[in-house]
Amino acid sequence: MVASKVRFICQSCGAIFSKWVGQCDVCKEWNSVVEEAIGGSELIDTVSIPENFFTTLDVSNNQFIATRHKTNLSEFNRVLGGGLVDSSVILLGGSPGIGKSTLLLQIVSDIPSINDFVYISAEESVGQVLMRANRLGISNPKLKIASTANLTQILKALNTIRSNSLVIIDSIQTVFSDAIQSPPGSISQVRYCTLELVNFAKSHNVIIIIVGHVTKDGTIAGPKTLEHMVDCVLSFEGDRTCDYRILRGDKNRYGAIDEIGVFSMTNKGLQEVSNPSAAFLSNRNSKVSGIAVFSGIEGTRPILSEIQALVSVTGLQIPRRTAVGFDINRLSMIVAVLSKRCRLQFSNKDIYVNIAGGLRINEPAADLAVAAAIISSAFNTPMPVNSVFFGEIGLSGEVRQSYLAFSRLKEASKLGYCHAYASISDELGDLNVKISQVNFVKDLLEIVRTSNSQKSTLTT
Ligand code: TYD
Ligand code: MG
Repeated sequence: MVASKVRFICQSCGAIFSKWVGQCDVCKEWNSVVEEAIGGSELIDTVSIPENFFTTLDVSNNQFIATRHKTNLSEFNRVLGGGLVDSSVILLGGSPGIGKSTLLLQIVSDIPSINDFVYISAEESVGQVLMRANRLGISNPKLKIASTANLTQILKALNTIRSNSLVIIDSIQTVFSDAIQSPPGSISQVRYCTLELVNFAKSHNVIIIIVGHVTKDGTIAGPKTLEHMVDCVLSFEGDRTCDYRILRGDKNRYGAIDEIGVFSMTNKGLQEVSNPSAAFLSNRNSKVSGIAVFSGIEGTRPILSEIQALVSVTGLQIPRRTAVGFDINRLSMIVAVLSKRCRLQFSNKDIYVNIAGGLRINEPAADLAVAAAIISSAFNTPMPVNSVFFGEIGLSGEVRQSYLAFSRLKEASKLGYCHAYASISDELGDLNVKISQVNFVKDLLEIVRTSNSQKSTLTT
C-alpha cells in the first residue's frame, strides 16, 4: 500500500496548509480548509481493472432499454416516466401528514413483475402500518413489514430478499447507523444511510423508495447532496386542508420531470383524479370578480386551473404581494408591467394571488391569466364567463404565443369553455372555441370595459 500524501486547502482563498486548521490564517474564513490528496497518479500501479471494464455502445443490443414495473397507480407511473426502473433509488419528499406512507403502502399492494415487497417503517410500529393497510383495504401476502431504524439490521434483513424486489424505507430521517456518531436526522447520518442504501440497491438489483421529510422552506431535509445520490426525487405536495395531492418529479434520471400526478385523499386512501381540470375549477359559473381560468400544460397534459386575485387598499407603508401556488417574483413583475403599461396604480394596494385546489404553477404562460384576475379584481368586474386565458407577458407589455395552443384550447372546449383570450397566430382548425387575440397586456382593459358595459345593460 502506498502511503497517500495529503494537503489542506482553503476553499475560500486557496491557501495551502500542512495540517488542518479551523480558521484560515490568510483570509480568516472559518471551516473553509479541506483535505486533498496529492500525487494520486502514484497509485495507478497499485490498482487493477477487470477485463470488461469498458462497454461499447451498440444500440441494437436491447440491454439499454430500462425495464419498467408498472404500479397500480397510473398517476404515479406517469410521474416516473412509465413505472419503476430496475435498481433505481427514489426519494419521496413531502410535509408530515400529506400522505407519503399512504401512497407507498398503496404502491406495494401489488406489482406482478416484482418478486418481494418490503416495507421498513422507522417511524411507526408494525401494528400501525397494519392498521393503515386495513383501513385502505390492502392485502398482499408477498409484503413483508418490519419496524426498525437500525441501518445495519435493515441491510442484513434485506440480504435475505430476492433480487428484483421493491423496498420502502419510511423515513430516512429516523434511520441511523452505529458507524456514525451524530444523532438520527443529522446531515452525516442521513447522507451515510442514503449512500449505503443506494449501494445496496445497485449491487442487489433492488428498487428502493426512501421517504424524506421536508423542511419549512420546502426542501427535503438533509443536504442537497442527498438529491444527487438518488435517481429520482419526487415531491408530494398539496394543502392539507384540501383533498387534492400533487405528485411532482424534481429530478428523474429515467424520464421527464414536468409531469404531475393528481390524487385526492379519502379515508379509503389516495384516489387517482382522472380529470384534474374539472377538479381544479371550484366554482366556474359564478360571476365573481378576481377570477380567471388558465389553460396550462403540465408535462404532456393540459390542465385547466382557476387563478384567484384580490386587490385591496393597503394599511401598510409597503404594500403586500402574496402568492400561493405561484412565483412571487413573477407576480411582482406582472404587477410592475400592469402599472407601467396599463397606467394602473398599485402602489397603495395589497395584491394576493392564489391558485385554487393547491396546485403550483411554474409555467410563464400563466402570466396573462394572473394579470386578468388582478385587473378583474381591481375593477371589481368579473371576466366573461366560460373564458380561458394563456400567454407569457414580456416586460414591454407584449403577450407572447404559448406552445401547445391547440391542446390548451381542446381541453378548454372539452370542459365547455367557449372563449379563449391569447396571442395565437397559427391556424388551429375547428375547435368550438372563439379566440380573441390579446397581443398586449393593455388589451385586458378592453375586456373589462366590455364586460362592465354588459353588466350595466343587464342591470338596467
Ligand atoms: P400519512 O400517509 O400518514 O402521511 P405522511 O406519511 O406523509 O406523514 O397520511 C396521513 C393522512 O391520511 C392524514 O393527513 C389524513 C389521512 N387520513 C384519512 O384521510 N383518514 C383516516 O382515517 C386517517 C387515519 C388518515
Ligand atoms: Mg408517514
